[in-house]
Amino acid sequence: MHFQSSSPIVLLQLTLLGVLHAAKWTYSGPEGEHHWPKHYPYCGGAFQSPIDIRSELLRFDPTLRPIEVQNYNLSPNEQLTLGNNGHSVQISLPSKMHISSLPHRYTAAQLHFHWGSSNQPTGSEHTVNSKQYAAEMHVVHYNSDKYPNMSMAVDKSDGLAVLGVLIEVGEFNPAFEQFLRFVNGIKYRDQRVQISGFNIRALLPARLDEYYRYDGSLTTPPCYPSVLWTVFRNHVTISRKQFLSLATALYSSHAQDSSPVPLNGNYRKLQLAESRVVLVSFKEDDQSWINTGLLVPILVSSALGFVLLVSLLCCLLRQKRSAAEQDKSKRAAYNIGDRDECGSRV
Ligand SMILES: *[C@@H]1O[C@H](CO)[C@@H](O)[C@H](O)[C@H]1NC(C)=O
Repeated sequence: MHFQSSSPIVLLQLTLLGVLHAAKWTYSGPEGEHHWPKHYPYCGGAFQSPIDIRSELLRFDPTLRPIEVQNYNLSPNEQLTLGNNGHSVQISLPSKMHISSLPHRYTAAQLHFHWGSSNQPTGSEHTVNSKQYAAEMHVVHYNSDKYPNMSMAVDKSDGLAVLGVLIEVGEFNPAFEQFLRFVNGIKYRDQRVQISGFNIRALLPARLDEYYRYDGSLTTPPCYPSVLWTVFRNHVTISRKQFLSLATALYSSHAQDSSPVPLNGNYRKLQLAESRVVLVSFKEDDQSWINTGLLVPILVSSALGFVLLVSLLCCLLRQKRSAAEQDKSKRAAYNIGDRDECGSRV
């Protein structure tokens, strides 16, 4: 009797568990990315991200303007939420931050990261000619000209614009320290702390005019093909220590879970470019011929030119020497003649 009366609650709890279970996804294991399409069909669909940005896909587009960002320099008085959502570290961004150089205004919502592990420091999602970087930052914006908020924009084809920044291990990055020094306060899933605002622009590379542009998707479920991607050509660096604070401090499991699951290697595998092209805002620099079929012809013609120049110099030198020798022997003959002349004269 008592059991029966409580069964609707049990049922409700089971339903909630079912919903929660459906919303669960990981990068490996039984809920890993190969299984994403079962619950999130877009993950198995078209226009997926990330992709390998390789030379064959590139097409120079002179109409691509430099990226312009507004109000990225936040005051320390503004509070941002730094959180661990079990998939990544995320910072909430105020709606005054936006991209002003695209056909619509794209308002910032959040930024988050993807990274490798301590023994495998390769965790960027996009790769460039197969090169995978240590980590990648995504600054997520939504089309606020057309949609009132992120949730209304997230599944629309012109809904989102994401700025992708490739991160390499190298020099210490003081801008990243503005939030990395607080990651020990969000070690477990669903933990959050408030942090002071700082200059978000300093997390981006110096040059915002050189980038790759293509149509793609969210790199996490539900994988909506709604993202206008901008991946900057130039990477930024963080120190090894800074990388390790991302790769070793965090867990994808809750604080109360008996077996903690480390949060690392949180990058999606490469997706097919299929018919897509990647527009580039910059002309390949002067070194580009090194990577092309032009190298051999350039080397051969340089060698030929050198041989030609050397033979020309040799020829000139020989001519000059024989002329000098002729002159000397002529002068000698003249001298004899002279003497003869002189002798005959004498
Ligand atoms: C987003 O906007 C829609 C439409 O105005 C609204 O119904 C919804 O509650 C909003 N969602 C959030 C999370 O603010």
